[in-house]
Amino acid sequence: MTDQSTDPKKLFIRTYGCQMNVYDSERMAEAMGGQGYVEVGSPDEADMILLNTCHIREKAAEKVYSELGRFKDLKDAKPDLKIGVAGCVAQAEGEEIMRRQPMVDLVVGPQTYHRLPEMVEKVGRGEKALDTDFPLEDKFEVLKNRPTAKRAPTAFLTVQEGCDKFCAFCVVPYTRGAEVSRPPERILREARELVERGVREITLLGQNVNAYHGAGDGGDWSLARLIWALNDIDGLERIRFTTSHPNDMSDDLIAAHGECAKLMPYLHLPVQSGSDRILKRMNRKHTAEEYLRLIERIRAARPDILISGDFIVGFPEETDRDFEDTLDLIRAVNYGQAFSFKYSSRPGTPAAERPLVDEAEASDRLHRLQALINEQARGVMDGMVGREIGVLFEKPGRMEGQMAGKSDYLHAVHVKAEGIAPGDLRRVRITEAGPNSLAGALV
Ligand code: SAH
Ligand code: SF4
Ligand code: F3S
Repeated sequence: MTDQSTDPKKLFIRTYGCQMNVYDSERMAEAMGGQGYVEVGSPDEADMILLNTCHIREKAAEKVYSELGRFKDLKDAKPDLKIGVAGCVAQAEGEEIMRRQPMVDLVVGPQTYHRLPEMVEKVGRGEKALDTDFPLEDKFEVLKNRPTAKRAPTAFLTVQEGCDKFCAFCVVPYTRGAEVSRPPERILREARELVERGVREITLLGQNVNAYHGAGDGGDWSLARLIWALNDIDGLERIRFTTSHPNDMSDDLIAAHGECAKLMPYLHLPVQSGSDRILKRMNRKHTAEEYLRLIERIRAARPDILISGDFIVGFPEETDRDFEDTLDLIRAVNYGQAFSFKYSSRPGTPAAERPLVDEAEASDRLHRLQALINEQARGVMDGMVGREIGVLFEKPGRMEGQMAGKSDYLHAVHVKAEGIAPGDLRRVRITEAGPNSLAGALV
């Protein structure tokens, strides 16, 4: 199955959607590397283009087709160019993609991309290849032969995939399948490999990462137990995880936020709505009050923790009163950051059958919610001025002579570059809060 030509073939991957897709794209590039492909930065040079897609909202899914349309000229000019669609649109729409865009040669779902080498071979013979199974083998084990090249100081590491929650609006349980946790030994091995390659901060990923239950040494491992084991890896300086569901914030995980030195004071904990009526219809299985009590317990363990969230506005039958309840919840939490979306009806989900909120009304709510969140995020950033905090430096800043990194709270921080290298973790005194980043000086 090895490639005989001496000139490496060129692969271009474009990634949409969540961090799990970013992680998957890296793995796909590695799998294709074994087939003699090197990654390039533009579709114009490529022999193969892979779109790693997202199905979460209609706009995200439709973008794939407009993007494919733009590749038509490239394919006309270079008939040997292969085009593949991976990720959640591939899983959700399968053959439909090839029907709508006949120039697509390959469709591969998020659970089968370890089979890419065989699929690419098939495509090379001029056939079409489609694989959207949910196989039993562990794709990450099949992809074990990792490169050893140096990496950036921060990395993602997928520990859990899929979702059993079935929120009424969401496609993820259908595109990613049931919840599966990777065994802790494999995760720890991968983490050690990353650290050997220069990684200082690892973000553990899962659609419901805090529902992690890995079968490991001594039985069932919780996410907290996994974090404590990662805490012992020399050279690893920071641990983060995302995305969590409120109902899976277990006591040991809350305690870890107070006690585990390398676990960063940042928690992305989506609530979607502050109205009990809407939460019930969303099938979120908790109330607004329960969420607020949970935030209180987390802050009791780690008072300075920065809370981030996700919100959907204009969920079917959301009234003004429901929306006001959401604003009240936001006021009670004081978010350091949040992502907010207008509800998008997704085929096959329970909410897709329900009456929609007026589009203009939904847009208005989104603007009001975002204004409140921006005000809170601004306040949290301003509150950093004068404080001494940890910053992990990653790359040169936008301005000459600066280095840029991320604070413990995940804010971008710019500092005069003298004596700082990528991968350095230093204490910084914050002197200024700009519109999108903080500035400071080494302590
Ligand atoms: N597993 C995570 C979220 C994954 S999807 C969780 O449970 O929190 C990321 C975000 O996209 C969600 O938190 C939600 O805010 C948003 N989202 C998901 N489906 C959506 C839809 N149909 N319309 C609008 N936003 C949606
Ligand atoms: Fe989607 Fe809900 Fe699962 Fe999150 S918990 S991935 S929003 S179904
Ligand atoms: Fe999108 Fe799939 Fe992630 S639908 S948000 S890429 S899990």
